[in-house]
Amino acid sequence: MKVPFIDLKAQHLPISDELRRVVSEVVESADFSGGSFVQKFEEQFAAYCGTKHAVGVGSGTDALWLTMKAMGIGPGDEVITVPMTFFATAEAITMTGARPVFVDVDRESFTLDPEHLEKAITPRTRAIMPVHLFGQTASMDAINEIAHRNGIPVIEDASQAHGATYKGKKAGSLAHAGCFSFYPAKNLGAMGEAGAIVTDNGDLAEMLRCLRNHGQDSKNHHPVIGWNSRMDGIQAAVLQLKLRRLDSNNELRRRHAMAYSAALDSFDGIVPPCECVDAAHVYHIYAIQAIDRERLIKTLTEQGIGHGIHYPVPVHLQPAYRKLLGHQPGDFPVSEQSAKRFISLPMFPELNEMQIAAVIDTVRNAVNSRRAA
Ligand SMILES: Cc1ncc(COP(=O)(O)O)c(C=O)c1O
Repeated sequence: MKVPFIDLKAQHLPISDELRRVVSEVVESADFSGGSFVQKFEEQFAAYCGTKHAVGVGSGTDALWLTMKAMGIGPGDEVITVPMTFFATAEAITMTGARPVFVDVDRESFTLDPEHLEKAITPRTRAIMPVHLFGQTASMDAINEIAHRNGIPVIEDASQAHGATYKGKKAGSLAHAGCFSFYPAKNLGAMGEAGAIVTDNGDLAEMLRCLRNHGQDSKNHHPVIGWNSRMDGIQAAVLQLKLRRLDSNNELRRRHAMAYSAALDSFDGIVPPCECVDAAHVYHIYAIQAIDRERLIKTLTEQGIGHGIHYPVPVHLQPAYRKLLGHQPGDFPVSEQSAKRFISLPMFPELNEMQIAAVIDTVRNAVNSRRAA
């Protein structure tokens, strides 16, 4: 049985009438760029995350970049983040003119390791940006404590963690600001590109609203230089509809992850993801570690089981950052080792029991063939 890595068509089929209806509402109102649909979504998303404000923007990358711009971060500054993330986290830092300073991840959650954080702080550090990798929050108490002691704001990259919680509080509400991507494949995905920032800080939200709209605070009055990163009305209408299903879909993802982990836990050379105390994982990505990844990839490919690698090269070893920052293999060993071992299995709410069983059987076959070899 073939199993896709992700199946957006399966997600949209049961809500296709509603999707058409909400898109036609936007078409009929012609409220395409910013406007009432965006405002409504912002209110709903802020309430969902438990923050006072949400600001819709064009993408998750813009959310990160504009948040740092709004905080006045620029050339000569440093922002601490992790190398085990999607490239955009570091890219957004670089695009402000600041320098990304990497801190390795821990061996359990693969999120920013607070043990290494303090020694990465310098007088130039202007923000700390933990990434809630794969849908699990970073160790926020320890990170916030170090940040607070050093007077540095924390910006969560929550692009993979819509609805994840830490000690019962939602991702995005755990620090000064939380940045989200609504790229279509995310747990809350648009039908195109979109992103948002959530925060309790009214001044920050106001500056972000200004920056995303060419630095305007009112029509034709530009107190600062901004950009065009307005969320569009169609995405906001789709996101309002999908937000209502986010918790139940996350619950399904968690259930599938439990089924995978219960079986894979006993397989030789396979390490399922770990759920940390205090963090409720929402499994945007279900990534296992495989000692013999090549063999597993070969078997999955032969059997038509979708898979991915998140991420095969840690950001500090990407050519762009090797050139810019001079990093070498060995600089961040946990990120580098996990980049060699991670493999992501099919994960989406609509997965059925037969598909899950087919994935597990295929991993078992790969493990057995390794043992026999
Ligand atoms: C951790 C992380 N940060 C940032 C982004 C960037 O989001 P976008 O693709 O919406 O610009 C992504 C999206 O893939 C991501 O996974």
